[in-house]
Amino acid sequence: MSETLYAIAVDVNGTRRTARVPARLSLVDWLREELRLTGTHVGCEHGICGACSVMLDGEPVRSCLMYAVQADGHRVTTVEGLAHSDGSLSVLQDSFCQAHGLQCGYCTPGMLIAAQSLLDTTPRPTDEQIREAIGGNLCRCTGYQQIVDAVQHAAARLAAKT
Ligand code: FES
Ligand code: FES
Repeated sequence: MSETLYAIAVDVNGTRRTARVPARLSLVDWLREELRLTGTHVGCEHGICGACSVMLDGEPVRSCLMYAVQADGHRVTTVEGLAHSDGSLSVLQDSFCQAHGLQCGYCTPGMLIAAQSLLDTTPRPTDEQIREAIGGNLCRCTGYQQIVDAVQHAAARLAAKT
Protein backbone atom coordinates (compact mmCIF):
# COMPACT_ATOMS: atom_id res chain seq x y z
CA MET A 1 0.00 0.00 0.00
CA SER A 2 1.47 3.36 -0.96
CA GLU A 3 1.92 6.04 1.67
CA THR A 4 -0.42 9.03 1.63
CA LEU A 5 1.31 12.26 0.61
CA TYR A 6 0.27 15.75 1.67
CA ALA A 7 0.77 18.91 -0.38
CA ILE A 8 2.66 21.67 1.41
CA ALA A 9 3.77 25.17 0.43
CA VAL A 10 6.40 26.78 2.64
CA ASP A 11 8.34 30.03 2.32
CA VAL A 12 11.93 28.84 2.83
CA ASN A 13 14.52 31.61 3.01
CA GLY A 14 12.28 33.87 0.93
CA THR A 15 11.43 31.32 -1.78
CA ARG A 16 8.11 29.52 -2.00
CA ARG A 17 8.78 25.77 -1.96
CA THR A 18 6.08 23.21 -2.67
CA ALA A 19 6.17 19.48 -2.12
CA ARG A 20 4.12 16.38 -1.46
CA VAL A 21 5.36 14.77 1.72
CA PRO A 22 4.45 11.87 4.00
CA ALA A 23 2.81 12.88 7.26
CA ARG A 24 5.73 11.66 9.36
CA LEU A 25 8.56 13.35 7.46
CA SER A 26 10.33 15.67 9.90
CA LEU A 27 10.94 19.26 8.94
CA VAL A 28 14.71 18.83 9.29
CA ASP A 29 14.71 15.82 6.97
CA TRP A 30 12.68 17.72 4.39
CA LEU A 31 15.05 20.70 4.56
CA ARG A 32 18.22 18.64 4.42
CA GLU A 33 17.32 15.71 2.20
CA GLU A 34 14.81 17.19 -0.24
CA LEU A 35 15.78 20.87 -0.37
CA ARG A 36 19.50 20.10 0.22
CA LEU A 37 19.74 22.84 2.83
CA THR A 38 22.32 20.92 4.81
CA GLY A 39 23.42 23.86 6.94
CA THR A 40 20.81 22.79 9.47
CA HIS A 41 22.38 19.96 11.46
CA VAL A 42 20.89 16.86 13.02
CA GLY A 43 22.20 15.97 16.46
CA CYS A 44 20.10 14.31 19.12
CA GLU A 45 16.87 14.13 17.09
CA HIS A 46 14.78 14.55 20.22
CA GLY A 47 14.79 18.23 21.02
CA ILE A 48 17.77 18.46 23.36
CA CYS A 49 20.81 19.79 21.47
CA GLY A 50 19.42 22.62 19.32
CA ALA A 51 21.62 21.80 16.32
CA CYS A 52 18.53 21.55 14.12
CA SER A 53 17.16 24.99 15.05
CA VAL A 54 15.48 27.04 12.35
CA MET A 55 13.15 30.01 12.56
CA LEU A 56 9.45 29.48 12.00
CA ASP A 57 7.79 32.83 11.34
CA GLY A 58 10.77 34.45 13.04
CA GLU A 59 10.80 32.28 16.17
CA PRO A 60 13.44 29.60 16.81
CA VAL A 61 12.08 26.04 16.73
CA ARG A 62 13.58 22.55 16.76
CA SER A 63 13.09 21.22 13.26
CA CYS A 64 13.63 17.63 14.45
CA LEU A 65 10.49 17.95 16.58
CA MET A 66 8.29 19.28 13.78
CA TYR A 67 6.78 17.53 10.82
CA ALA A 68 7.19 19.13 7.43
CA VAL A 69 3.40 19.27 7.10
CA GLN A 70 3.27 21.51 10.18
CA ALA A 71 5.31 24.12 8.30
CA ASP A 72 2.67 24.36 5.56
CA GLY A 73 1.74 28.02 5.05
CA HIS A 74 4.57 29.27 7.28
CA ARG A 75 7.90 31.02 6.81
CA VAL A 76 11.05 29.03 7.57
CA THR A 77 14.52 30.56 7.84
CA THR A 78 17.54 28.29 7.94
CA VAL A 79 21.14 29.24 8.60
CA GLU A 80 21.59 29.65 4.83
CA GLY A 81 18.87 32.30 4.94
CA LEU A 82 20.86 34.42 7.39
CA ALA A 83 23.51 35.14 4.76
CA HIS A 84 23.30 38.04 2.33
CA SER A 85 21.58 37.41 -1.00
CA ASP A 86 24.98 37.22 -2.75
CA GLY A 87 25.97 34.38 -0.42
CA SER A 88 28.40 36.43 1.67
CA LEU A 89 28.25 36.01 5.43
CA SER A 90 26.03 38.21 7.54
CA VAL A 91 27.63 40.35 10.24
CA LEU A 92 26.55 37.78 12.83
CA GLN A 93 27.99 34.86 10.88
CA ASP A 94 31.22 36.75 10.21
CA SER A 95 31.46 37.71 13.87
CA PHE A 96 31.43 34.04 14.86
CA CYS A 97 34.51 33.63 12.65
CA GLN A 98 36.22 36.75 13.95
CA ALA A 99 35.57 36.00 17.63
CA HIS A 100 36.25 32.26 17.37
CA GLY A 101 32.65 31.41 18.24
CA LEU A 102 33.02 27.94 16.75
CA GLN A 103 35.42 25.05 16.69
CA CYS A 104 33.95 21.91 15.11
CA GLY A 105 30.94 23.93 13.96
CA TYR A 106 28.34 21.28 14.66
CA CYS A 107 26.31 23.48 17.00
CA THR A 108 26.91 26.66 14.98
CA PRO A 109 23.77 26.72 12.79
CA GLY A 110 21.59 26.42 15.87
CA MET A 111 23.65 28.99 17.77
CA LEU A 112 23.34 31.43 14.87
CA ILE A 113 19.58 30.94 14.66
CA ALA A 114 19.22 31.49 18.42
CA ALA A 115 21.50 34.53 18.33
CA GLN A 116 19.78 36.06 15.30
CA SER A 117 16.38 35.64 16.97
CA LEU A 118 17.72 37.48 20.00
CA LEU A 119 19.29 40.31 18.00
CA ASP A 120 16.07 40.76 16.01
CA THR A 121 14.29 41.82 19.21
CA THR A 122 17.20 42.92 21.42
CA PRO A 123 19.86 44.66 19.34
CA ARG A 124 22.19 45.37 22.31
CA PRO A 125 21.76 42.34 24.61
CA THR A 126 23.54 41.79 27.89
CA ASP A 127 25.74 38.73 28.31
CA GLU A 128 23.01 37.26 30.49
CA GLN A 129 20.41 37.73 27.75
CA ILE A 130 22.72 36.02 25.26
CA ARG A 131 23.28 33.11 27.62
CA GLU A 132 19.53 32.83 28.11
CA ALA A 133 18.92 32.89 24.32
CA ILE A 134 21.48 30.16 23.59
CA GLY A 135 20.68 28.22 26.75
CA GLY A 136 18.83 25.53 24.82
CA ASN A 137 21.73 24.88 22.45
CA LEU A 138 24.54 22.54 23.38
CA CYS A 139 28.18 23.08 22.39
CA ARG A 140 30.82 20.52 23.22
CA CYS A 141 33.79 22.59 22.10
CA THR A 142 33.85 26.26 22.94
CA GLY A 143 32.89 26.52 26.59
CA TYR A 144 30.28 29.06 25.37
CA GLN A 145 32.23 32.23 26.28
CA GLN A 146 33.48 32.74 22.73
CA ILE A 147 29.92 32.37 21.47
CA VAL A 148 28.74 35.06 23.87
CA ASP A 149 31.67 37.22 22.74
CA ALA A 150 30.79 36.62 19.08
CA VAL A 151 27.20 37.74 19.59
CA GLN A 152 28.39 40.84 21.47
CA HIS A 153 30.87 41.55 18.68
CA ALA A 154 28.07 41.31 16.10
CA ALA A 155 25.79 43.54 18.16
CA ALA A 156 28.50 46.20 18.41
CA ARG A 157 29.28 46.03 14.69
CA LEU A 158 25.59 46.29 13.79
CA ALA A 159 25.09 49.20 16.17
CA ALA A 160 28.04 51.02 14.64
CA LYS A 161 26.40 50.73 11.21
CA THR A 162 23.17 52.43 12.30
S1 FES B 1 18.64 17.44 16.56
FE1 FES B 1 16.93 18.62 17.09
S2 FES B 1 17.29 19.30 19.11
FE2 FES B 1 18.95 17.95 18.67
S1 FES C 1 31.73 24.25 18.08
FE1 FES C 1 31.74 22.09 18.30
S2 FES C 1 29.83 21.67 19.27
FE2 FES C 1 29.97 23.81 19.29
